[in-house]
Amino acid sequence: MTANEQVLQQLESVNFPTPPAIVVRLVQLLSKDNVTAEEIGETMALDASMAARVLHLANSVALGGGTQVESITEAVLRVGVDGVRDIVFALAMVGAMRPAHFDYRPFWRHSLAVAFTAQALQNRAQGLTEPFPETYSGGLLHDIGMLVLDRALGTRYRDVLDAARTASRPLAEVEHEMLGTDHAQTGGRLLEIWRFPRLLVDAVANHHRPWVSGQTVTRLVYLADFVCNHQGIHHGTGFFPEGCESRVWSDLGIDPAELPQIVAGVQSDLIRAEAVLASA
Ligand SMILES: [Fe+2]
Ligand SMILES: [Fe+2]
Repeated sequence: MTANEQVLQQLESVNFPTPPAIVVRLVQLLSKDNVTAEEIGETMALDASMAARVLHLANSVALGGGTQVESITEAVLRVGVDGVRDIVFALAMVGAMRPAHFDYRPFWRHSLAVAFTAQALQNRAQGLTEPFPETYSGGLLHDIGMLVLDRALGTRYRDVLDAARTASRPLAEVEHEMLGTDHAQTGGRLLEIWRFPRLLVDAVANHHRPWVSGQTVTRLVYLADFVCNHQGIHHGTGFFPEGCESRVWSDLGIDPAELPQIVAGVQSDLIRAEAVLASA
């Protein structure tokens, strides 16, 4: 058995983490159109401390501030149903999934920034009949395979991260060489085990090669990842900004000349990302 085969076997036998109950419920809600404030309220009832943190965030300057809101219904009015849903999702994931061999803060900061940026790119994309509800989650979870590799391989994965950083090479490439797999494939496998929607699995599994997938959500996550890395908002371990396939811009109907405006948006998204992280 080669070293790479051993890694793959190790990954199959590892106890994959289970998603927080609140996240499972939210993913189910996400696959529906028009989630209501009441449904969000029911989801919040799963976790009282979560409700308190969402209220705190809804009152923060980063999310609008102003007069004090005191109930989830008011919070929904302030940041919108989608906003509350996204905050709950992010808080639950950041709280539940912490890496052991690298710093969680830049990792989740990058993941949150990619989630917000993917949504902003979706708003700019031409020819979409309606927005995909998976876009935010795809951005938030795109690098989650790094957490699986960290948990399964321990210090061995730290060596991979060090090798990528030292050589200034794309992480997925170095992972393939040293492990025979990469965090995108591993993350896709995790979401498959979690029975997450097909579009989400695809976005995570193919976020470094969207041309093999052809799905819009996957392209949006790829482009958002590129934009954030390009701005130095990386996951803190392998910050070499990978090249960007020009056809992804044209497939989405976004003019690369819009990049400065997109980048300006990323900076304000970062303030939201920091606010969410500070409450996690
Ligand atoms: Fe990645
Ligand atoms: Fe990334």
